[in-house]
Amino acid sequence: EKGGYEHFMLKEIHEQPNAIRDTYRGRLLANEGIIRMAGIDDNLEKFLNANRIIIVACGTSWHAGLVAEYIFEDLARIPVEVEYASEFRYRNPVITDKDVVIAISQSGETADTLAAIKLAKSKGAFVFGVCNVVGSTIARETNAGAYTHAGPEIGVASTKAFTTQITVLTLIALKLAKANGSMSKTVFHSHLQELELIPDKVKEALKADKHIKEVAHIYKDAKNCLYLGRGYNFPVALEGALKLKEISYIHAEGYPAAEMKHGPIALIDDQMPVFVIATKKGHYEKVVSNIQEIKSRSGKIIGIVTKGDIDVKKVADHVIEVPETIESLTPLLTTIPLQLLSYHIAVMLDKNVDQPRNLAKSVTVE
Ligand code: M6R
Repeated sequence: EKGGYEHFMLKEIHEQPNAIRDTYRGRLLANEGIIRMAGIDDNLEKFLNANRIIIVACGTSWHAGLVAEYIFEDLARIPVEVEYASEFRYRNPVITDKDVVIAISQSGETADTLAAIKLAKSKGAFVFGVCNVVGSTIARETNAGAYTHAGPEIGVASTKAFTTQITVLTLIALKLAKANGSMSKTVFHSHLQELELIPDKVKEALKADKHIKEVAHIYKDAKNCLYLGRGYNFPVALEGALKLKEISYIHAEGYPAAEMKHGPIALIDDQMPVFVIATKKGHYEKVVSNIQEIKSRSGKIIGIVTKGDIDVKKVADHVIEVPETIESLTPLLTTIPLQLLSYHIAVMLDKNVDQPRNLAKSVTVE
């Protein structure tokens, strides 16, 4: 059942090229220049007339929501707010029938997300679900939705659910961007073509596994780790840190790279590994200067870089390469090495990778 892999998590990491392809199959029609999604088509006016989109989710799904915030605002020019479902539901939020709420949940059973949906519905908002488990409670409770089609995710640490959630949300954003005129036909087409290349590029990113394992070996005994990224890759930094925490029990924090100097930089010494996402597009030069700040305080730097990178290589202790793509799609690639890294560290520390202590696959209690 693990398909020859030692753990479900590793199997699921490697399934991502196919899972992403399954997610856009029948939806992304690159040659025709169309994105077909019944849940959006049937409710297009609701999305186009929305004052804003509110995304509610927990954990990794919340991180996917944060990536979506960048995508929706950047590509479709629709204001987005991303909320922890557990906070949203208890703070008397301002919601009206002009709001569209997107609830993201792999399991479709997360209690806090479900409660947030019920609250939003009671205030008249239109609620759209992005779930993986077909027929799950959240899939049934929402007004409409789109499944991720990632296939069953067994490992408690979410991997393919995350990248397929981002894929679905990208499709929605592109569709709305075209429909509301914020994206030209030509740019729309080039995005569709780039998205079609992602499964192969994920496959390529997975090939760095051996090197990632070597890096994992060097840092497996760290007590603390920092993960930094900017823009689209800030949520990836959060997700990288969460992945390490949950399965290896090493304390890790994700931060926007530029926030370093407002506090966390005080933590940097030669015992602190800092994983920095520094891909070519998206504030590259700024991130390089953030890296120099860490270097001058003796921090250990592991850069997640675009293939062929030169500048980060000069200053970092290690670099892990991912293929080049357009900025909005980089999270689908930069996430991959961070998943593998956490996996290998947890295995080296002899932890229960698929069923980490204190965690359940779906959190059905509040
Ligand atoms: O099933 P959901 O997507 O609603 O689950 C949300 C979180 O509980 C989940 O993402 C959790 O954070 C994972 N263990 C992360 O790997």
